[in-house]
Amino acid sequence: MLAPVMTTKTTDIFDPAHYAAVRRPVLEAATLPAWCYTAPAFFERERERVFLKGWNFVGRADEVADAGAYRAAETPGGPVLLVRGKDDEVRAFANTCRHRGARLATGSGTCRRLVCPYHAWTYDLTGRLIGAPGMDATAGFDTADWPLTAVRLEAWQGFLFVCFSEATPPLTDYLGDLTEQLGSYSFDDLVTTRRVDYDIPCNWKLLAENAMEAYHTGTVHSASLGRQVGEQVRTSGHWDALFIAQETSIAVLPGEAAPFPHIPTLQGRAREGTFFTMLHPNTQLACTQDALWWSTFRPVAADRTILHVGQCFPRATAARPNFAAEVEPYYRRWDKGIEEDNAIGAEQQAGLMSALRTPGRFSERETATHSLANWIADQVIDDGLATRRI
Ligand code: FES
Ligand SMILES: [Fe+2]
Repeated sequence: MLAPVMTTKTTDIFDPAHYAAVRRPVLEAATLPAWCYTAPAFFERERERVFLKGWNFVGRADEVADAGAYRAAETPGGPVLLVRGKDDEVRAFANTCRHRGARLATGSGTCRRLVCPYHAWTYDLTGRLIGAPGMDATAGFDTADWPLTAVRLEAWQGFLFVCFSEATPPLTDYLGDLTEQLGSYSFDDLVTTRRVDYDIPCNWKLLAENAMEAYHTGTVHSASLGRQVGEQVRTSGHWDALFIAQETSIAVLPGEAAPFPHIPTLQGRAREGTFFTMLHPNTQLACTQDALWWSTFRPVAADRTILHVGQCFPRATAARPNFAAEVEPYYRRWDKGIEEDNAIGAEQQAGLMSALRTPGRFSERETATHSLANWIADQVIDDGLATRRI
């Protein structure tokens, strides 16, 4: 028997009894209760236990390529500023002035120092406060005591991640065997050629779950990508993946030519199809033979998500003289597929608002989505069954 209809007013939504069915093997399991996608209390617990503990993807190192380059990133832990120093090191700071808290920068650009737009406190590229006009009379004030607040930052093959907890394992431990399974893509060599952001009226997990199954492709993408068949990848660490076998790049629409060469270093299955990964909590790397696109589902409310998408190619591909024209089929495919996925996410959110909604069941084509639901339960529910707690 699945759980009866309950409202969050009368129910302890964190009671493990509500999640016992989610914990069963996939073909016997139930989906997460609707409140996991709608209740502010569940959202708040995810922020504490998932987003403030896990590694959050914030961009690519090639997006802050030169000394003095900066990029502001919004994260579930608040605004972060990425800055490349004169020593070539990329640092992350809480994007909040130590004086009265204004954001130091928005967007991206290059600078020699960071000057707060409010009262002009000035920081060097390592975060040191080097100027604080009008503070001479303030008792015991020493600029050395007021550097920008550093945020823990680690990079793997050009992907930059921040973490708001000191207790979380280092990034490459957290990612388990991902670094080995995806090691042949030469991600270090990628450049980001385009970014697109979307504002979607649905819970972030709906987008992540959708990204982990190909069951929907024959309906949601019937007029674009068409039906795809995925196979769950065995993983260790805080990630899951779906592999879709296809000799030609899946990054263009069926029937369109993919003009770019395959990444020459690819090994094994990476040569034969696409890995759709989910780096928990909320970043997908879609790795195909000639391109990569990443998606980060940034939660802003239980029913609202900002989706950041970045599109990347090997350096030599992006340098082709005709790149701007040749890349069009890729951008067209990505825009189409992503908009279709976003639209169904909004529909699903609307449906989950029904007072009569009870948990559903999974098909054999949703095994990775079931893994994802269990990863969430591992973090959020104290049932003693967690196998992958951060
Ligand atoms: S808030 Fe930055 S200088 Fe005042
Ligand atoms: Fe899709």
